[in-house]
Amino acid sequence: MLTRVGGPLEVLDLELDPPGPGELLVKVGATGLCHSDLSVIDGSRVRPLPMLLGHEAAGEVVETGPGASDFAVGDRVVLSFVPACGSCRRCVSGRQALCEPGAAANREGTLLGGERRLRLPDGTRPHHHLGVSGFAEYAVVSEKSATLVPADLPFEIAALFGCAVLTGAGAAFYSAAVAPGDRVAVFGLGGVGLAALLAARAAGAARIIAVDVVAHKRELARRLGATDDVAGGPDAVEEVRSLTGGGADKVIDTTGVAAVLEQAYLATAAGGTTVTVGLPHPDRTITLPALSLVAEERTLKGSYLGSCVPRRDVPRFVELYRAGRLPVQELLSGRLGLDDINTGFTRLAAGEAVRQVVVL
Ligand SMILES: NC(=O)c1ccc[n+]([C@@H]2O[C@H](COP(=O)([O-])OP(=O)(O)OC[C@H]3O[C@@H](n4cnc5c(N)ncnc54)[C@H](O)[C@@H]3O)[C@@H](O)[C@H]2O)c1
Ligand SMILES: [Zn+2]
Ligand SMILES: [Zn+2]
Repeated sequence: MLTRVGGPLEVLDLELDPPGPGELLVKVGATGLCHSDLSVIDGSRVRPLPMLLGHEAAGEVVETGPGASDFAVGDRVVLSFVPACGSCRRCVSGRQALCEPGAAANREGTLLGGERRLRLPDGTRPHHHLGVSGFAEYAVVSEKSATLVPADLPFEIAALFGCAVLTGAGAAFYSAAVAPGDRVAVFGLGGVGLAALLAARAAGAARIIAVDVVAHKRELARRLGATDDVAGGPDAVEEVRSLTGGGADKVIDTTGVAAVLEQAYLATAAGGTTVTVGLPHPDRTITLPALSLVAEERTLKGSYLGSCVPRRDVPRFVELYRAGRLPVQELLSGRLGLDDINTGFTRLAAGEAVRQVVVL
């Protein structure tokens, strides 16, 4: 439970209403710690508070609300951070990551139906985080936030598919459309960046240059298939350009640092695509050489939820994982109890951890 910006999370007992129409009660098995949770804590992602955080979760359906028909009690589900209504203009165009009522609910800190199901002892209602609020033993969610996963997939692995894997792998497969033989650079090697790296490898990239300020993350990236690594900082652009003979075909920025997005653009080749998934503070702006966009036919793209459709892509990516072609278990760098959550976020902020999960 978050009560104030910049403060530690407080672990509290809350009341949870039963699931309403189209909602599920999920017994949470595991929830990952993402930088986007940290950004709510430090105020760079402005959300209504207090809020129960955690948006990358997996669990088991224990009760279905009236009219909830997509799942049965006992189903294992992964929860992703954009509820997709399925019927708005964007959903019907295949842009579920941009679902309009989903985005509105996420901004307001409610479930898709506009309700808040959490209650403090004094009767006030904390906000939901991105329709999930997974740092708790139980969650009431819209069934539109959930995707069925195989019963034998461990919760701590399944959870990663809800954010890091959808976002990172989707950024590589769909937003950057990494093709066989591509030279790819990934800036930022957290859970999202390493998932992008794994997908770039699965898509047949010939070179993968891993960029981070933290040396042990570059070493991990090498073990996961990076062909080169570069220390993040002012020289990174030149190093990527010289390793690729003039820039990488596809560059994926996952740092959340606007200045690094500029570097990612400058490290991209003529004809190439720069994709960013980073979520910098809303005040940040970037400056780019305008001419290059046209004269070099460049593409600069944002990617939310990896442009994925969770119910299409979670099963696809789980299959790749089970075939050994997307070894997302390598992203898991620690398991925590709910009481250790602040230590986990301190580690994430310090660059010591990749993907930690709270196991419930
Ligand atoms: N677009 C989406 O749908 C979506 C989804 C999830 C997360 N995010 C955002 O993506 C970003 C990454 O999330 P994460 O959980 O992987 O974070 P993370 O903190 O685990 O990873 C970020 C990495 O960037 C590295 N970095 C920082 N400064 C750098 C620099 N100057 N050069 C190179 N590397 C640098 C850090 O060392 C770290 O390894 C965050 O901004 C997060 O909010 C976006
Ligand atoms: Zn996330
Ligand atoms: Zn929609």
